Amino acid sequence: MKGIVLAAGAGSRLYPASLPISKILLPVYDKPMIYYPITTLLLAGIKEILIITNKYDIDNFKKVLKDGSQIGVKFSYAIQKEPKGIAESFLIAEDFIKDSPVALILGDNIFHGFGFSSMLKEVAKRKTGATVFGYLVQDPERFGVVEFNKNNKAVSIEEKPKNPKSNYAVTGLYFYDNNVVEYAKMLKPSLRGELEITDLNKIYLEKNKLQVEILGRGFAWLDTGTFESLLQAANFVQSMEINTGMKIASIEEVAYRMGYISSNELLKLAKNYKQNGYGKYLEKIALTV
Ligand code: G1P
Repeated sequence: MKGIVLAAGAGSRLYPASLPISKILLPVYDKPMIYYPITTLLLAGIKEILIITNKYDIDNFKKVLKDGSQIGVKFSYAIQKEPKGIAESFLIAEDFIKDSPVALILGDNIFHGFGFSSMLKEVAKRKTGATVFGYLVQDPERFGVVEFNKNNKAVSIEEKPKNPKSNYAVTGLYFYDNNVVEYAKMLKPSLRGELEITDLNKIYLEKNKLQVEILGRGFAWLDTGTFESLLQAANFVQSMEINTGMKIASIEEVAYRMGYISSNELLKLAKNYKQNGYGKYLEKIALTV
């Protein structure tokens, strides 16, 4: 399975904070935001990842993530010229996807919770159809919303409905079989001029090929779209990391635990940050695990 991180937005809701650099590269406590979605894909066992960015930020993303070989994976880059919607990712990525299934994650989506990596590995094994993740929220009208019947089967999905049929938001993490490229080509722009991911998910739903996994109360799905929520996300990560002594979404640590790099390679990466707690943490992991 291949993976895509969509990180092309201007992030204008965070201006002026995100004027000089993509919102997706702003720090969430001790690491750039993109570390979090990359970690999610790595935990699903995905090693080939395309980062879709805008033309202004592509070099900054390359500076942060390089070609991926430093953590034993492969990163490549593509540009979304205009904000034409999440589902356009599959048109931009057609040559990258080839005949593979593919997972897409939005660059500002942060997931954290017990059992998440085993859930991801299970989902990534599915041969056909699509899988999305539902999460209970207070303000469903801001999101794609999924409605369930009595048997917990998804029966409708609507994008930012005025009168939401449930409080379950569809999060920004999507797994698809290889038909996704063909289906994306069938989409028409919505009223806001975008190829909507929700329209793509509706195609799978209508074919009875959409599975919705619920992320329960023990999960954190963090928003980073406003000044307040970005700070709250950072505070969440800080308190979890301080309480447990373990880092959330360290791509270097995850690559090591997945067996993509050796302890010596991890030690070498740790040296890049040797003057701070991030480097000391990587060093400790390399020497003790
Ligand atoms: C997008 C999707 C929406 C989804 C959300 C998750 O919203 O369109 O269905 O619930 O991401 O982050 P947007 O970022 O376009 O507001």
